[in-house]
Amino acid sequence: MELFQNVHSYLAYIVLAILIIAFVNALIGYASNKDFALEKDFRISLFALILSHIQLLLGLILYFVSTNGLKAIQELGMGGMNSAARLLALEHPVTNVLAVVFITIGWSRHKKTDNSKKKFGRIALFYGIGLVLILSRIPWAQWFN
Ligand code: HEM
Repeated sequence: MELFQNVHSYLAYIVLAILIIAFVNALIGYASNKDFALEKDFRISLFALILSHIQLLLGLILYFVSTNGLKAIQELGMGGMNSAARLLALEHPVTNVLAVVFITIGWSRHKKTDNSKKKFGRIALFYGIGLVLILSRIPWAQWFN
């Protein structure tokens, strides 16, 4: 379990970094009417998609093996959890599953058009929503501990 915790904790830096890069890259591409390039834009967005999915999987495993996940809900009950426990066991998992859903929608919708501006726009919008959701429910105190 400690292994999953550590990987989820370190991968979080990489996932956040690549999501920010993919989001900013899409914004710039959109604003400057660039062509959506296979070598660069496609790869950055795909990399961000894959890493967020790996993080999702690790998070799901953690949810079931960690004492801070499902076990906390079972042991303390909804009413018995303080806000820190609720963040780890409930808000962070639910919000981040949703965030990855948005990112995945952005990825698949960008593939449905050949128009570069629309591709950038869809990635910027959906990856942006995902990023804001993730940032809104990071357990910062626990992370930097
Ligand atoms: C997709 C983006 C995600 C990011 C960037 C992220 C990031 C983090 C970070 C930074 C921590 C604190 C780690 C530490 O204590 O050092 C954490 C903990 C945790 N995450 Fe995530 N997470 C993500 C998705 C998920 C998902 C989808 C789930 C569950 C479905 C999840 C479940 C958990 C659980 C249960 C903990 C607490 C683990 C423990 O303390 O034992 N995470 N996450």
